[in-house]
Amino acid sequence: MSGPLEAMARTARELVAPGKGILAADESAPTMAKRLATIGVESTEPVRRAYREILFATPGLDAHISGVILFDETIRQCAADGTAFPDLLRQRSIIPGIKVDGGTRPLAGFPGEVVTEGLDGLRSRLEEYAALGARFAKWRAVLRIGAGLPSATCVEANAHALARYAALAQEAGLVPVVEPEVLMDGAHSIDRCAHVTTEVLRAVYAQLARHRVVLEATLLKPNMVLPGLDHSDAASDEEIAARTIEVARETVPAAVPGLVFLSGGQPDDAATSRLDALNRHGAQPWQLSFSFGRALQAPVLHAWAGDPRNTRAAQAALLHRARLNGAARRGSYRP
Ligand code: 13P
Repeated sequence: MSGPLEAMARTARELVAPGKGILAADESAPTMAKRLATIGVESTEPVRRAYREILFATPGLDAHISGVILFDETIRQCAADGTAFPDLLRQRSIIPGIKVDGGTRPLAGFPGEVVTEGLDGLRSRLEEYAALGARFAKWRAVLRIGAGLPSATCVEANAHALARYAALAQEAGLVPVVEPEVLMDGAHSIDRCAHVTTEVLRAVYAQLARHRVVLEATLLKPNMVLPGLDHSDAASDEEIAARTIEVARETVPAAVPGLVFLSGGQPDDAATSRLDALNRHGAQPWQLSFSFGRALQAPVLHAWAGDPRNTRAAQAALLHRARLNGAARRGSYRP
């Protein structure tokens, strides 16, 4: 492996260091507006900046959080004392990352399906993000389960885009986090989620190979294998862990250093106890970690409620969830 690839592989391993995981704080402006609306706060640039500073300045966060994913606006913002957010994170030994996809758009000819855009101009954006201090990147593809969905075309188009992104990220010296999210929405069974997730991951690793992406210098951000939100039967943590690991062992090469699960709208305590079950399921070729957005931030937003007097309470809420997820990384989570 060349020097830059060695360095990226090292960064990938640092991101999945034992007891630690990633805080996804890369909500786009429209998504952040939705999150802030849940606490009755209007989404303006100063509000988003203040909220992100609360997250990043949380004392003790680095004990459980290895990296933070930023959004284009956020990587350019500063703390109140003028320290750029990527510098604030680096000073605390937390690795800054950046969301680089341009979001999803309807896939022409395939009603109900989307493809992630953002490849045009990506090379120069990646160079700029590297100069701003990012050391890893994220691109999210979205697959929906439904009658006849996802189509093979949608799976292929998204896998291809993920691979083109991953190759460009490595060229720029950034570790690509590869996120093909199979949504929880729907009434499908856990079997169907397992089947679709298998097909999607097979397509993604076939494309990554074709695009000469070096797997040691990547991370996978997958969904857990779950029954659909509207499915009649619940699944136990142990069943979810067993099915998720079964799918991963079938599809994800051992060269990948880690799987950093997304929370995808699961309740925060469910996401944590399932991560714990995954880590109690026996030795695996990869680290099983987290890259949670909502499952880390939902209690923080509610504790903060847009009031600076609640900063301490908000940071305590983040530290609490980060600590529990850190414990789940070791299979020692106790609710
Ligand atoms: P959730 O954990 O809220 O799914 O967010 C993770 C993420 O970054 C999705 O791209």
